[in-house]
Amino acid sequence: MIERKPLPYRIRSFEDYQTKYAHSVNDPEGFWSDIAESFHWQQKWDKVLEWDFEKPEVKWFVNGKLNITENCLDRHLETRGNKIALIWEPNDPKERFERLTYRELYNRVNRFANVLKRNGVGKGDRVCIYMPMIPDLTVAVLACARIGAVHSVVFAGFSSHALADRIIDAKAKMVITSDGMYRGAKELPVKRIVDEALERCDSVEKVVVVERTRWAVNMVDGRDVWYHDEVEHVGDDCPAEQMDSEDLLFILYTSGSTGRPKGVVHTCGGYMVYTAYSFLNVFQYEESDVYWCTADVGWITGHSYIIYGPLLNGATTMMFEGVPTYPDPGRFWQVCDKYGVNQFYTAPTAIRALMAHGEDHVYSYSLNSLKVLGTVGEPINEEAWHWYNIHVGKEQCPIVDTWWQTETGGIMISALGPHSPNKPSHAGLPLPGIQPALLNEKGEEIEENEQEGYLVMKFPWPSILRTTYGDHERCRVTYFSHYKNVYFTGDGAKRDKDGLYRIIGRVDDVINVSGHRFGTAEIENAINQNDNVVESAVVGYPHHIKGQGIYAYIILKDSTDTIENLRGEITETCVKEIGPIAKPDKIQFVSGLPKTRSGKIMRRILRKVAEGEPDKLGDTSTLLDPDVVEEIVKGAQ
Ligand code: WTA
Repeated sequence: MIERKPLPYRIRSFEDYQTKYAHSVNDPEGFWSDIAESFHWQQKWDKVLEWDFEKPEVKWFVNGKLNITENCLDRHLETRGNKIALIWEPNDPKERFERLTYRELYNRVNRFANVLKRNGVGKGDRVCIYMPMIPDLTVAVLACARIGAVHSVVFAGFSSHALADRIIDAKAKMVITSDGMYRGAKELPVKRIVDEALERCDSVEKVVVVERTRWAVNMVDGRDVWYHDEVEHVGDDCPAEQMDSEDLLFILYTSGSTGRPKGVVHTCGGYMVYTAYSFLNVFQYEESDVYWCTADVGWITGHSYIIYGPLLNGATTMMFEGVPTYPDPGRFWQVCDKYGVNQFYTAPTAIRALMAHGEDHVYSYSLNSLKVLGTVGEPINEEAWHWYNIHVGKEQCPIVDTWWQTETGGIMISALGPHSPNKPSHAGLPLPGIQPALLNEKGEEIEENEQEGYLVMKFPWPSILRTTYGDHERCRVTYFSHYKNVYFTGDGAKRDKDGLYRIIGRVDDVINVSGHRFGTAEIENAINQNDNVVESAVVGYPHHIKGQGIYAYIILKDSTDTIENLRGEITETCVKEIGPIAKPDKIQFVSGLPKTRSGKIMRRILRKVAEGEPDKLGDTSTLLDPDVVEEIVKGAQ
């Protein structure tokens, strides 16, 4: 074995945490440059940080040159060439799993990168990736990064309409996809969905299709190529493109409270440093550990903590194609035992869904390899936290409740394995380098503990979003205009007596369904596409598995159709416009909506009704038509 130097940025005790935290606040540039030094730069930066939250403009490691894939792959070849980089567990437990060493992953990324080049993609071009959770997805992402193309991964549960919107916004030149996909008991015609989407997109010149299901698919002459044909014609080596720290690495679309989803932009240098640093410390990864994050690469969690964070640290990372309940609700635990998983990272909604199936499924497996458990995506309720802790972790594993966002690029508030406080339903303390604050309604900072307020960040960190693609003003207005000189998260939080943060949830018109973000306006727009609908208003309400459910109040046109048919049709409209994850859980048909005299829908009232608290509506005297509230309360489900 070749001796490997311990990484200089590893935090190993609470004391260490406190020292590093203090250093990061007193000398942020020194703190981050020490960490950045441990990466491979083709050219070192001139300046660590330039920032201005007014514009907003943030630059890290200014004029540094690098390629993130050299840091994920090339630099490990000598010491970790034969180490497993990626373990792939297929949807069907009977199908053969795959294991790729760092050397094999390196080779595959190089060849895929050459296929991209051969098909006309180069530095700065946007490539949309719409694929199942197979190794080629990770390979495709890294292949883009290798040649400096900007990847935009779209979750393969989105509909063709949602996919088309994202392709058009990014002006993608290429789409990478597969023939079909398996997900639990379901099969999905992925390529057909791409074909439908492309009817509306003129920027796409090439579609690269990876074989997964071996279904017959339509191939458009001159546009569509099979990956396995193309790869026959390319060489094994692809030099890594030299990228500036602030060149775009990727775009990832996420929902906001208004309008269409926006393309959050991350850049190369800062994102690399932050995802590597946070991965190592939050999960306390050790050299021979097997780490498993169950997210999909279509979300930020998959980007930062399936692909980049783990590979930057030379870790063994898993990818799982299936779902927690297929073929039975013991699947997660069976897979943990199969590979001896040491760090397991999932979403509260998955824990609650498995909880509902009882503990027997957990106790069929030993789970004795587990060291650290993690959650992400939404607040975890205490019941689910304890279930996870007792039955999965056997009260031996710290639970890292990781708070962060697509926009933050990496984990911001969380325990660091066992080295910082671990309290049910509390994300805990900020990572060194992260400076959160709570603000009151007036935008003043709340200094005391045991208080609640709007969660903001007072100082930039390396993986902060740089812009929203093609619309910088939207980035400014959404995150940097509510309060002066801070980044506004859109979340509300409480701080306990020890300074630990507990995230309460969104304070804007965003709902979080099973850890997936939707703007209420986005779902309303979808519902309104149905010909029978005059107007609609959507709110979130507490849901025992999903965290929040979608409650839609809808005004119908005169129609001869039955109510049940209309319900079905409207649900279908949402599936078509966004995808199955955006189906309303409850639909209530109403004759009017509570509006102020200026025509604004009073969602507060609709929320209270949806939450089953019609006695807490508050003041309704400013409504245009107070009677409508009575009708809504009566008709509530
Ligand atoms: C919520 C996911 C409570 C929060 C990484 C945030 C959380 C939004 C937590 C971002 C957590 C994420 N506790 N709430 N540990 N993690 N959230 O962009 O409301 O998909 O603003 O990023 O999820 O969701 P996104």
